[in-house]
Amino acid sequence: MTATIIDGKAHAAALRARVGTGVEAFVAATGRKPGLAVVLVGEDAASAVYVRNKGKATVAAGMASIEHRLSADVDQDTLLALVDRLNADPAIDGILVQLPLPTQIDERAVITRIDPDKDVDGFHPVNAGRLAIGIDGFVPCTPLGCVMLLKAVCGSLSGAEAVVIGRSNIVGKPMAQLLLRESCTVTTVHSRTRDVAVHVRAADIVVAAVGIPGFVRADWIKPGATVIDVGINRTVAGLVGDVDYAGAVEVSGAITPVPGGVGPMTIACLIRNTYVSACRREGVAIDPAI
Ligand code: GUN
Repeated sequence: MTATIIDGKAHAAALRARVGTGVEAFVAATGRKPGLAVVLVGEDAASAVYVRNKGKATVAAGMASIEHRLSADVDQDTLLALVDRLNADPAIDGILVQLPLPTQIDERAVITRIDPDKDVDGFHPVNAGRLAIGIDGFVPCTPLGCVMLLKAVCGSLSGAEAVVIGRSNIVGKPMAQLLLRESCTVTTVHSRTRDVAVHVRAADIVVAAVGIPGFVRADWIKPGATVIDVGINRTVAGLVGDVDYAGAVEVSGAITPVPGGVGPMTIACLIRNTYVSACRREGVAIDPAI
């Protein structure tokens, strides 16, 4: 059996197009564009590429992109003062501070300073808490994109056995919460798990987010399972995921490639969260298709 290859680029393009339509209605209703502020500290090359791509996607969706670049040696108070200004600015609906931050800055202090109702990354503790207890808030973009792909491929996830590999605050933990919200039976495995394979073998849904190339072996995967590979690992062989793709494609029912799977969905979900934030702040109805 050969798996269905989940085309993340196509799913992301469709989501961006739906958001673009929603944005047109928002502009017609309010006379202004949704605004996303992105803050980049320092010169990290990968971060600069991400920020540029976020800006392009924001503008392509009909929204305003406001970029703030601060030097690598900026002090924490200056960064917090910028966050305060963005919190108070009525034209800004979403605030994203690109991570990682230089070592002189306490990342947690910065994330916690962002108004939770403008926190389109979903990293603020208030949004983590809202997700955990089932209140509307903002969900981190990468796991949100994963659950959208899963629902598009599988339909209802109710009752499925799901395993999440990795327990980061950005992917693993919110991913597990989202799958629970979809009524999956969720197991989170991590670096101290005694036997990862035994859990993966029982899973209908596998989400891999560990950052180790080829960590998930093909013989762990239950035939027909749906595999979502969040890993983006730069190796001599190029970009590879956390799953042994060549092997897994022969056993799984559906699988995301790397690149072209989860990655494109992350930015599309950021655009979606910014649109949703603008609608909530202005009392405009959110298009249910989004
Ligand atoms: N750095 C890597 N991924 C992300 C992300 O999704 N949001 C932010 N703010 N920084 C990141």
